Amino acid sequence: MRLVKVGICGLGTVGSGTINLLQRNSELINPRSNCEIIVSQVGARRDNPNCDTSSLNVSRDIFDVAKNPDIDIVVELIGGTTVARDLVMTALKNGKHVVTANKALIAEHGMEIFAYAESRNLIVAYEAAVAGGIPIIKGLREGLSGNQVNWMAGIINGTTNFILSEMDSKGREFSDVLVEAQEKGYAEADPTFDVEGIDAAHKLVILASIAFAMPLDSKQIFTDGITKLQPQDVSYARELGYAVKHLGIARQTEQGVEIRVHPTLVPKNCLIAGVDDVLNAVMVNADAVGTTLFYGPGAGAEPTASSVVADIIDVARTMDSNPDSWVPALGVKTDALDPRQILDIQDIETSFYMRFSALDKPGVLSTITKIMADAGISIEAIVQKEQPATEEYVDVIILTNVTYEKSLDAAVENIEKLETVRGNVSFIRVEHLDQ
Ligand code: HSE
Repeated sequence: MRLVKVGICGLGTVGSGTINLLQRNSELINPRSNCEIIVSQVGARRDNPNCDTSSLNVSRDIFDVAKNPDIDIVVELIGGTTVARDLVMTALKNGKHVVTANKALIAEHGMEIFAYAESRNLIVAYEAAVAGGIPIIKGLREGLSGNQVNWMAGIINGTTNFILSEMDSKGREFSDVLVEAQEKGYAEADPTFDVEGIDAAHKLVILASIAFAMPLDSKQIFTDGITKLQPQDVSYARELGYAVKHLGIARQTEQGVEIRVHPTLVPKNCLIAGVDDVLNAVMVNADAVGTTLFYGPGAGAEPTASSVVADIIDVARTMDSNPDSWVPALGVKTDALDPRQILDIQDIETSFYMRFSALDKPGVLSTITKIMADAGISIEAIVQKEQPATEEYVDVIILTNVTYEKSLDAAVENIEKLETVRGNVSFIRVEHLDQ
């Protein structure tokens, strides 16, 4: 069997999980790759008690690994975008194939990395960058390659899903659940990446680039996290038959491509509404297959290592074949990507959940429904929640039909100007995901 030498850079949660998995399952992995895969060197500034490296060649300088003439595949598991970019480019310049779990790196520097790798006939594989252990990149790039993808909607950040699930089912505090997610190794080094939706935006831009054969461009993505979400909206949504999920949504329309990340109401009977805890799920709707759901663990040492090891096996078994027959990083070569117009959030059509506090007196609701009608918005349901008799104001909940975000914004502005309405209007986008 051909010997394939792997260098692992980074010994954190995923790095240690990858070494453990490669060692534990080597008897399965070698025949599957038709190679003998060995960890030839590890680059890490410090050890990890979860991984025994005593029999391995460990360097404290990760660039030793990228330049080591013996190594065939460099596995980048250090995270971040600065040193990681230098490391990956150094590895490629030294003729190594690269496997990475780094979504920020791919979303922000993927075009440069892929174009250079193509010019040198090298592979850059990044299955672990999106949705941890779920093989969604392979699913899109290979399993669905005969389809035209219409839309995707995914829970692609385990930390936010864990926080929302715990807040909803156990009434726990946001900050308390976040600490637990950090302790369990789900959260990013900077957890604002999770809770502000940045991590999900990085992943969504990667999925959209593959599904719609467009260049990676993470700058134009509408991104909203879960930090402004009010607990009463989660419970009102539940009463109305919806779950609140933090979704990444990408859709092809005649006007352009929608790519957006935000909290979303989804009907309870939709499969994705039942995806709780740290689990991820990506719905893909495509012309031939219809709607599919890819579901599984989206973070954690072994699930993410599962994808890293799959990429190592894939690269090892592809390495000695003709580069022209390799599946390119984004499904097509970088020069065949089609820059597409990404729609502004104002030009996106969806339904909305709205909540505001209004004076409980005759005529108030009719003024509000007139504002909605003037903005061209059709109301699907309106509910006035009963309050104690001592309370002058009542919560009003409106569910709208599909409308443009700019129409909703105009209506919200006019409702907030009313003297009979106190404070701001909260609104959350609603997706039915049924076509
Ligand atoms: N912080 C990420 C998450 C880890 O919570 O999903 C996996 O990318």
